[in-house]
Amino acid sequence: MNSVIIDCDPGLDDAVALLAAFGASEIDVLAITTVAGNVKGPQTAVNARIIREAAGLGDTLPVCAGAPRPLLRDPVTAEDFHGSTGLGNLPFPDPQIELSKTHAVNMIVQTCQTAQDASITLVVTGPMTNVALALTMAPNIARGLKEIILMGGADTEGGNITSFAEFNVFADPHAAAIVFNSGIPIRCLSLDVTHFVRATAERVAQVRAVGTVPASIAGDLLEASCKLEFSAKGDRDAPLHDPTTILAVTKPDLFTGRTTRVEVITEPGEQFGRTIPHFDPDGPVLWYEQADDAGAFDELCRLLGGVA
Ligand code: BDR
Ligand code: CA
Repeated sequence: MNSVIIDCDPGLDDAVALLAAFGASEIDVLAITTVAGNVKGPQTAVNARIIREAAGLGDTLPVCAGAPRPLLRDPVTAEDFHGSTGLGNLPFPDPQIELSKTHAVNMIVQTCQTAQDASITLVVTGPMTNVALALTMAPNIARGLKEIILMGGADTEGGNITSFAEFNVFADPHAAAIVFNSGIPIRCLSLDVTHFVRATAERVAQVRAVGTVPASIAGDLLEASCKLEFSAKGDRDAPLHDPTTILAVTKPDLFTGRTTRVEVITEPGEQFGRTIPHFDPDGPVLWYEQADDAGAFDELCRLLGGVA
């Protein structure tokens, strides 16, 4: 069993990742922590609560709101790809179950400090502000962490928010630099991988055909993602960014890559937010370069079938 904290900025694809994690019998989600990113901080916390309730989960799974802005740079959001609500303006009911009173950063710190050695997996699908703050406030949390699995960065694919930068790193490059330089084992799902795992119409139909409530919601989220991707970029098939992190927990052999150190460009200029892997057999980051995309959708469907 993998004990997992999911730090996210829902976000259509973050929401699919949450649903997949809830359905995975191999994953025990200890907490959802939220951060400003795709939409402003308070809205990402509302969206995490919406998805928790849509999946039929209650307050035994805490949702903790975190950093409302990046460490140093001005805030940036991505409504073009997620709609003004962050969930594609889909008609979800307002959440009824309260937000936790614990701050996201405190939740990460407390969970890791009280855990057994190398027992917690931190899955990160948004800007890395909360994780950088936790590592700065309490560097000893590294002891409790097994690994960080994150969606962020780009090398061969180039960026998606500028020609060099991927959104999660661009939205808080100083935080990303802290995380990538922490020495903690990281597995990284960058655009180099996620751009090749696309929600085609056939695959959205495959997800819907699973027939469970989470699969039907995921179908709606993926369809909304594809519509927005088309109006923003002219691409019909949205990349399956964030759910790949959950698939990397449950079926790591879907992905292959090389170990590396990762440099983050934090100086102002056109490369601001760029990630540069320096491949090195001793590097702490496993930078995935290839995915079995059909296998990824099969696995996503298996997980979405896990909860009725
Ligand atoms: C990442 O940016 C966000 O818009 C998505 O949720 C994903 O985490 C992709 O670059
Ligand atoms: Ca995200």
